[in-house]
Parts: sequence; C-alpha cells; structure tokens
Amino acid sequence: MPKRINKVILGVGGGIAAYKSCDLLRRLQERNYEVTVVPTPSALNFVGTATWEALSGKKVTTQVWESVDEVRHVKLAADNDLILISPATADLIARLAMGRADDLLTNVVLASNATKILIPAMHPNMWNNPATVANIALLQERGFQVMRPAIGRLTGIDIGIGRLPETSEILSYLASVISDTQNLLGKRVLVTAGGTREAIDPVRFIGNRSSGKQGYAVAQAALDRGAEVTILSANVSLPDPVGATIVRVESTKDLEIALGTYFHTTDLLVMAAAVADARPSQVGAEKLKKDSYREITLMENPDLVGRISEQKGKQVIVGFAAETSLNIAEANRKLLAKGLDLIYLNDVSTGEIFGSDSTQGVFIKSDGDEIPVTKSNKATLANQLLDLVLDKLN
Ligand code: C5P
Repeated sequence: MPKRINKVILGVGGGIAAYKSCDLLRRLQERNYEVTVVPTPSALNFVGTATWEALSGKKVTTQVWESVDEVRHVKLAADNDLILISPATADLIARLAMGRADDLLTNVVLASNATKILIPAMHPNMWNNPATVANIALLQERGFQVMRPAIGRLTGIDIGIGRLPETSEILSYLASVISDTQNLLGKRVLVTAGGTREAIDPVRFIGNRSSGKQGYAVAQAALDRGAEVTILSANVSLPDPVGATIVRVESTKDLEIALGTYFHTTDLLVMAAAVADARPSQVGAEKLKKDSYREITLMENPDLVGRISEQKGKQVIVGFAAETSLNIAEANRKLLAKGLDLIYLNDVSTGEIFGSDSTQGVFIKSDGDEIPVTKSNKATLANQLLDLVLDKLN
C-alpha cells in the first residue's frame, strides 16, 4: 500500500548546496507537503534562519536548547511522516552513522520512525573516502534511503561525483521512495550492465560505447526498493552500487556463463548490457603484427537473452534496444524473438545516450502497450522500468 506522506522535515546540512534546498522547499510546498526546515548550525553559514522562516512560514531552530518546554525534537519526530536531508554533508552523515544527537536535526532523526532520505553532496574525494563509504553503507543497512550524488562540476574547479542532483531529480527520487518504499523486498534482481569486449589479440578488442550507467541505475533503484541485486558488469568504470553483488565479465562468452549461473535463482533479469553481436573467429595468441592485421573475420555471437529466455520459469525479463531511429516494429520483433516481457527502445541517433545521464525512447510491453519516455535521467527511467514490471513480479 502506498504510504500517504503529508508532513516532511527538510533537514539541511552545512554545505554550499544548502542554497539549492530553498528551491527544493518551494517545490515540496507546491506538491502540498507541509514542510518544517531543520538546518544544522553550520548550514546557517550558507543560508540564514530568516530565509528558512520566511520560505517555510514556520519557526526554525537548530538546537534542542531552544523551546525546551515543547521537547521539540520528540514532537517534530512524532509529527512528521518523512525526513529528507539535503544536502547531507560528510560530517552530518558521519554523525548520523554514529547515532549522535548533538543538534536538533540529529536528535529528530534519532527519535523518528519515519522514512529517512539522504541527498549527499560533497567533494568526490570525501564521497569516495572509505569512512564515508562505510557510513553510507551502515545507514543504508539501517533503512536510510540514499540518493547517489550527481557527477559534474563542483564548487571549485574539480569535476566528479558529489554534486547535489537537480531539484527535479531529487523530487523524482523522493516520489519513487514514497510510491512504495520497499516494493522489491525479497526479490532477486539480476542486471547486466556495460558492454562486452571481444578479443582480437591480447592487446586489442572490439567493443562498444555502453558506459553501464543505465544498468547501474536500474541496480541502484532495485537496491533502494529492497531487492537483492546482482550485477553482471561488463567493463564498467563506475563506482559499484553499495549492497549489490558485482560479477565482472569481459566477453560475451563470460557473460553467457555468468547468466547461466545466476538466471535460475533470479526473479527479474534486466539485460541492459550492450552485447557484441559478433566476435573475431580467431584470437591471436600474441599481439598481431601490422602485416597480419589487415582484416578480421567475425563469427556471430549467440543471442544471450534469446537463449536464456527459453529456460524461463517465473522470471520476468526486460531487454534494451539501442536503435539509431525509433523503429517500433523492430523493437516488437526483438521483444517476441527474445522472449521478453518488456523492452526499452532508446533512440541513440543523437549520440547523446551513451555515457550520458539522460535518455529518451519508448517502453513496449509484451501486451503491445507503448509508453513513450521523453528526455529523463537514467535513475527516473530505472524506476519507471521497475514500476512497469511490478505487477508481473508479484
Ligand atoms: O539485438 P539487440 O542487440 O538490439 O538486442 C538488445 C537486447 O538483447 C539487449 O537487452 C541485449 O542485452 C540483448 N542481447 C543479447 N545477446 C546478444 C545481443 C544482444 O542478449 N548477442
């Protein structure tokens, strides 16, 4: 049953992205949430009490030592259905992981049984630091929902993972959490991600441009919904989603073997990987010299999903098709030929899909329903995909 969320605490940590939470607050109010802002004391260095009070229309304090007669932390915890913390800084995450209660926000979090969502934002080195990685894993174990930071330009000259995602992305993440927080609990999800590589010789290979972002986004969304997730990861250089089992594969053959191992115990298979359609018929034992490196004879690879779907029992299978034009008839043909329950046809004609954070295309279900997807980020698409197979999974 979807949980009705009306009253929200917007926790604000002391990072520069705090100013973006003014917009987040407004957008939450537009969606009819009653929002109480609880900044940390250091958040006030970036955005002051007056701003939060004016925007929220409510009194804003950071300490348990103010309005003590109200026992404010316990009251706020009991009165609110959800705690959304944006930005969640490394320090705030560390304090939450330790269960500290040294300001109003951490007191409220400790006293609350509500759904808790963290939107981390920090420098990539801080995000990737083993201390933060461990703190995040611990908080996720305890049921916190953690949105992955965006990759991009940071406050200084650095570029990397750690940007606060756009407000619209935070809202769609929030919607996915709220829609039914843990609707994949007890389900096993197998995701193939990235692109296979076919060896020409020990040095060279034939590969493709798939980054693995879409597959990893599906894996993350499934983890957020409580699924047990295994990723068959083909040559992906993204950080591993915390909590997923990662099996690294290189070639189509490796992927075929791994699929054979994991398919039978899975409930959902999402074939997001770009699998090479062919491989060199002969692989040089040593690096080929210029003279013998003029042509490569190819042989066809098996259609992995087409083959494995012949052994299908309870499994729901989702495929992807990258086409340089939105060819619905071709996607329908693949849906049937490969024994899929759902296919996402993405239009790669603009060259913007591979490696990009956004996607556009159309979902086609085995009953013929078509669901167009206008430009969305890959996390949103991942949640849409999971929503579309939920009925079949249950
Ligand atoms: O035929 P096409 O490559 O467009 O099909 C895409 C879908 O089929 C993807 O889900 C991909 O993972 C899967 N595939 C496969 N084995 C292949 C080629 C593609 O399982 N040899």
